[in-house]
Amino acid sequence: MLALVDIASLKGIRLPDSEKVWRLGILISGRGSNMVALADAVRDGRVPGAEVALVISDQADAAGLASAKARGVETLVIERRGRSREDHDREIAEALGEHQIDIICLAGYMRLLSPEFIATFRNRILNIHPSLLPRFPGLHPHKQALEAGVAASGCTVHYVDETLDGGPIIAQRTVPVLPGDTEESLAARILEQEHKLYAEAVGLVIERLKH
Ligand code: GRF
Repeated sequence: MLALVDIASLKGIRLPDSEKVWRLGILISGRGSNMVALADAVRDGRVPGAEVALVISDQADAAGLASAKARGVETLVIERRGRSREDHDREIAEALGEHQIDIICLAGYMRLLSPEFIATFRNRILNIHPSLLPRFPGLHPHKQALEAGVAASGCTVHYVDETLDGGPIIAQRTVPVLPGDTEESLAARILEQEHKLYAEAVGLVIERLKH
């Protein structure tokens, strides 16, 4: 499959989308457990047609950088360094372009993206959020869920648009809230499901992009 892609690109032949390898760029700020789960799902063939081509962190000390390197994934640190959001995002967009990234996955990326960046990659940016959106967007979603007294919460993968956690939903998974749950216990159970859901959602997005 790889040999096919290489020969075709050398000869300038455009492969049919069914043959294309969709290059994922994952943006992180910290732990990176969703990035790891996605990279491992791709490695194990659970996201057909995908390749994790690049991990970018806006934090030089993000633990996820070492996990990405350990998996042989190229990493970049692009810090904000006092620049405007637009300038910072422009450097990230350039790096994504240079690496021919097709799909951008936010995985614990703790910055809002500029409207310019979102417009450039419209319908190609995904995010994972630990609640059943549209409920509990923004910060502290587990706390919000516990305070609301809901019987279930969960996680959502959605397209990123200009709204906060408000773009079109791609996939969701429900997780019950148990008696005695704390923010930590609920977050841990939801995270297990996040790790499965993101790979499934990326698979769905690739299927949509093919048609
Ligand atoms: C996850 O709960 C994700 O849904 C949210 O931030 C957390 C990041 O965790 N956006 P990790 O860095 O993927 O481990």
